[in-house]
Amino acid sequence: MSIVITGANGKLGSLIMKELLQKVASDQVIACVRRPEEAHEYLEQGIEVRHCDYDQSETLEQAFAGASKLLFISSSNNDDTTRLRQHAHVIEAAKKSQVEHILYTSFAYPEDGNISLTHLHLATEHAILTSGIPHTFLRNALYTDFVGVLGLDAAIAAGEWRTYPGDWKFNTVTRHDLAVGIAAVITEPGHTNKTYELTAPRPWTFQELATALSDLTDKPISLRQDPQVHNWMYGFLGKINTSSTSPDLERLIGGPVTSLKDSIRPFISFKFGIKQGDGG
Ligand SMILES: NC(=O)c1ccc[n+]([C@@H]2O[C@H](COP(=O)([O-])OP(=O)(O)OC[C@H]3O[C@@H](n4cnc5c(N)ncnc54)[C@H](OP(=O)(O)O)[C@@H]3O)[C@@H](O)[C@H]2O)c1
Repeated sequence: MSIVITGANGKLGSLIMKELLQKVASDQVIACVRRPEEAHEYLEQGIEVRHCDYDQSETLEQAFAGASKLLFISSSNNDDTTRLRQHAHVIEAAKKSQVEHILYTSFAYPEDGNISLTHLHLATEHAILTSGIPHTFLRNALYTDFVGVLGLDAAIAAGEWRTYPGDWKFNTVTRHDLAVGIAAVITEPGHTNKTYELTAPRPWTFQELATALSDLTDKPISLRQDPQVHNWMYGFLGKINTSSTSPDLERLIGGPVTSLKDSIRPFISFKFGIKQGDGG
């Protein structure tokens, strides 16, 4: 078995590599990276490193040669039209290289969104279905990291957190939990032609986040809804489904996902004396 992983130098890809290497021998895993010169840690572990650039089709066919499983991590380019083209290159190369099974990191509940991001992921899923390659769609929820742009440090300092009005609910996850679940899908049998919604099993609210912040900082932090709050993130959150949940991730992990409190710990400033864990 040859497991080929794209984006292996990225944040999610490197966590998945770590989990995989606890389950399979290093000679069964191939790290595909855009910049091989930054992959010396893999080489030191005896892992084969291949050059793979979604913009350079000619690199991809060779990179995917012999793959019984290809974990295709979606591009991080910030233009979805570019990403669509890059993803088409990956799927064409996977077909030419006769990849036996492609696993794609999609986005949770894409049918419920109406933005370029959700169209991109659905279009990529359709292109994979059209290719006829056996597939698994790993529809990742929003990373809990997004709390990092909601002004938590200022809320802690002020003892009050202002959020945009609304009945907000979030099914976010940590990359670490996703990595554990995705490594299980790659290494266990029975996941071909399946779609998993990799969300937390319960959504959390801003009130629960404020309570977790108070617990972490030992300071009272109240929540106030304020229509004057301006943050681009609310526009984005309002256009995707962040509230539906699925038991898929906990089933794959074989236990509970990381708690909200532990998930947000890495995103709170050291200046408040918060002990940092590895929840991200
Ligand atoms: N669910 C969510 O909330 C969420 C949030 C943000 C992103 N995402 C998606 O999830 C993916 C993984 O997340 P992440 O946190 O691991 O992101 P990341 O750390 O930015 O990793 C993205 C990986 O994609 C690689 N990549 C980008 N463009 C490429 C290209 N042209 N050819 C080959 N490889 C390319 C990067 O290579 P280099 O190492 O060379 O840069 C990197 O390894 C992202 O790429 C994005 O599609 C999801």
